[in-house]
Amino acid sequence: MAAKRILLGVTGGIAAYKSAELVRLLKKSGHEVRVVMTRGAEAFVTPLTFQALSGEPVRTSLLDPEAESGMGHIELAKWADQVVIAPASADFMARLAQGMADDLLTTLCCATEAPIAVAPAMNQAMWSNGRTQRNVDLLKADPQVSLWGPDQGAQACGDLGPGRMLEPAALHDLIAGKASGPLAGRRVVITAGPTREPIDPVRYISNHSSGKMGYALAAAARAAGAEVVLVSGPVSIDAPVGVEVRGVMTAQDMLEETERAVNEGCDLFVATAAVADYRPDTCAGDKIKKSNKSMSLSLVRNPDTLATIAARDDAPFTVGFAAETRDIEHYALDKLTRKKLNMIVANDVSAPGLGFNSDNNAVTVFWPEGHESIGPGSKTVLAQRLIALIADQLTEKAGPSGAC
Ligand code: PMT
Repeated sequence: MAAKRILLGVTGGIAAYKSAELVRLLKKSGHEVRVVMTRGAEAFVTPLTFQALSGEPVRTSLLDPEAESGMGHIELAKWADQVVIAPASADFMARLAQGMADDLLTTLCCATEAPIAVAPAMNQAMWSNGRTQRNVDLLKADPQVSLWGPDQGAQACGDLGPGRMLEPAALHDLIAGKASGPLAGRRVVITAGPTREPIDPVRYISNHSSGKMGYALAAAARAAGAEVVLVSGPVSIDAPVGVEVRGVMTAQDMLEETERAVNEGCDLFVATAAVADYRPDTCAGDKIKKSNKSMSLSLVRNPDTLATIAARDDAPFTVGFAAETRDIEHYALDKLTRKKLNMIVANDVSAPGLGFNSDNNAVTVFWPEGHESIGPGSKTVLAQRLIALIADQLTEKAGPSGAC
């Protein structure tokens, strides 16, 4: 990875102290770093800290003749290969989204042609606020801007939820485009969420899958170094950082999009989606009127994405899920053999507070030589253990890199 010239913008937030570690990591891996701080950032960390770590003067003001005579702000904007704003406060994101240039950092963002990565850090309620989310949508639609995070979890103020800045090591790896971890160099395709099978233009057959399990697995696979494509039914969750999400609606769409993704190269396929097994054999062109006392729907079988991928001559290492309400082990092992899978993750979807549309789950993973139970626990933590286990089995079967 060639050394880059990184312009790091630090805005006001308690996470500003973590950016000192980011500068240290970037310098250690040979990058040139210049730091620009907003007035708010200076209330949390002193410019001297960043100057000592970057070995360069820190810029804080647009109207500083002395600093401008060293490297003018337009020159600085042109100098950067990559702009990273970490932490990015709600206020800064609002000003960036509006294209404002009312301080040095926003002016640099207007003047630079380099990609701008924004690592949000704020209280969870501020992140979820409708006005912040409108600004997030504007930034997502901006081709020059990437959003890196935020992460979920415990916050400095004691709240729990989305809004934590990504850890310096994760930001460093994103800047370096570097993949490290047990799935580094692997391409992973994951399905998630429900499918919707239309009955007429306004009605459909579906299920309670929220996509949380599949999205947590995609985030864990990405954190383990994989390049991840997530084929997702309709859900209301943000794409995990660094994961490519391809939206689908029906079971047929899910099969076609997954085959496309697998054809592009795939070492590991994980089917987490709750795909409708049946669909109405026709979809009415107009809304069906309630003219009869009763009505019946004729259903036909949907294609099975998991079985189709596992049956390919060039099948990737394939992991299925089994959603069961009784005889869990028996049905899971039957699916493992019948669908020719490498591993199967069984969950009891009748257990209260676990499985469908919940933040928590408990699973038992089976593979030909063993099994392991994980949880109950949060889907995020469960997904990390699952990915570690899957990576172990994949490496044992396929060797340290390359497709099976
Ligand atoms: O999305 P969440 O709210 O987080 O909930 C997570 C979950 C409960 C949906 C998840 O943990 C889970 O159990 N996913 C599998 C759901 C399911 O459809 O199970 P199944 O036993 O019916 O199917 C077995 C396997 O075949 C699954 O890997 C499924 O993705 C796959 N399949 C099934 C039918 C079909 N037509 N195509 C498929 O690929």
